[in-house]
Amino acid sequence: MHRVITIPAHPASSSHANALEFCHQLEAGNILLFPQSPIALTAEDLAFLRGLEHSHRSLHKNLAYKPLQDRIAGAKLASDDPAASQRLLHILRGYSRSTLQFLTEFLSPYTTRWQVDYASFRPLEEQGRSLPLHKRNDLLHTDAFPTRPTHGARILRFFTNIHPTQSREWVVGEPFRTLIPQMVPATTPAPRADGSLQRAVRSTLGRTPLGRAWPALRRSPYDQFMLRFHDVLKENADYQTNGQHTAVSLPPGSSWMVYTDSVPHAVLSGRFALEQTLLVAPEAMVAPEESPLAVLESLAGHRLV
Ligand code: SIN
Ligand code: FE
Repeated sequence: MHRVITIPAHPASSSHANALEFCHQLEAGNILLFPQSPIALTAEDLAFLRGLEHSHRSLHKNLAYKPLQDRIAGAKLASDDPAASQRLLHILRGYSRSTLQFLTEFLSPYTTRWQVDYASFRPLEEQGRSLPLHKRNDLLHTDAFPTRPTHGARILRFFTNIHPTQSREWVVGEPFRTLIPQMVPATTPAPRADGSLQRAVRSTLGRTPLGRAWPALRRSPYDQFMLRFHDVLKENADYQTNGQHTAVSLPPGSSWMVYTDSVPHAVLSGRFALEQTLLVAPEAMVAPEESPLAVLESLAGHRLV
């Protein structure tokens, strides 16, 4: 079962032993919460970010910053308002760099073994957004990126709630390792349980990947499964209502991180969050047996990447 592990004031010098323990806690499906974010943002930048959505009606979704290209995805804001776009770029670049710098020490066992993925600004109120089922973030799901297969790398996300007064309200469920056996129909006799799940895993894996048309999209069997699992959870009304889950309040000014590929999560309300995603190499795991890749490979009985 997951826990929220609160890290009161982040230690000035974190030892390697601490860092190892934090990696363990994350890999076991816990959320690490910093009630006071270790990432500094100026009052002016915060005010700018909070004002952005009001002044730009075209901002109808999250904004992604691509650190490796040092640019913000989508040209709408840039063409509408080049000055605002430049300032936003500056702020997101700063957030991304500060977060990476912080994590380099805080999670030292992972350092140099991650790929820096996108950062994002989430300006919209999450409550009452009207989105198609598979895009809804208020339904429990594990993350998988349709356009960025990870080939077994883990999706680690670091969030910061920059709303001045309001908590971001999440719900989280038990992690992949204990969840996946329950996705087998309850009627399946125990000794056969693995067999039927194995068949389900295999049939999902059998689908033809898009990768033939676009090599960057080439998905491993692992990626195929994780994408499908994201949808399966959102489609499962019984799991959404009756599955084991708990409410987690993420206070204004806090940061938190979690492996969102294995911890089912949903955001019910809140607006104004910043986020940085890292793809951590499977070899960097301190408890490799907890990873979705290891769990699936042991069920499938063969390599999936
Ligand atoms: C998500 O990853 O599902 C959204 C989380 C959030 O924006 O708080
Ligand atoms: Fe998600």
